Amino acid sequence: MNKAKIAIALPLLALLAACNMGADGNASSGESAPGELAGARIGAPFTLTDQDGKPRGWDDFKGQYRLVYFGYTYCPDVCPVDLQRIMQAFAQFEKAQPALAAKVQPIFISVDPARDTSAILKPYVAAFHPRLIGLTGTPEQIAKVAKDFVVLYNVEGKPGDKDYLVSHSRTPYLFDPDGKPVALVPVDDPSTTGASVDYQITGNETRGNIELEARNDEQSADEGSPSKVLAFLEKWVK
Ligand code: NI
Repeated sequence: MNKAKIAIALPLLALLAACNMGADGNASSGESAPGELAGARIGAPFTLTDQDGKPRGWDDFKGQYRLVYFGYTYCPDVCPVDLQRIMQAFAQFEKAQPALAAKVQPIFISVDPARDTSAILKPYVAAFHPRLIGLTGTPEQIAKVAKDFVVLYNVEGKPGDKDYLVSHSRTPYLFDPDGKPVALVPVDDPSTTGASVDYQITGNETRGNIELEARNDEQSADEGSPSKVLAFLEKWVK
């Protein structure tokens, strides 16, 4: 590109960026529009331990898009519902666009390192998709990664409790091949769905066999259906 062309292109780009900023998402449907997380300070290098007990670093995934979900395997409702739908959409994406799907690494990071050992993570991630990687670490490692990825979590219970819950933010991220945040994966907003949505989760004791049934009234809004997640993947993964 010569200098004259650059001079013309730059003001145009600036104008596009300004449009996107003010339009509250309306201008983001264009192919070249950045995702809502573009430029956000989310993510940093880490080394954690995967479901096979092997060290895995953020930089191991260089060159790949990364779908990153923070949660915990004992989560009774939201985590398995989100993961099931995201990974179902990912499986559809794999069928439709195998070459593009190969460029995406789905990653589940535990915010409950005390209970989520590699051995616990292994059957859990496998239940959702064979390519889903589960990561855990020491409480200190997880605290740092959560901070770097702007994820809040808090153990709800008394010391010594075995059956505690972990409240955590629900922010499934898509990162680009450079490890920069792109956009939030659409997940269902329970506040916009009526009482007609009812999830049933049954799992066996090894937690390796998760079955999920979502009964969904077609009238209610569903921002996180697999078809929405599939459209999201088709939009961003190039
Ligand atoms: Ni959860």
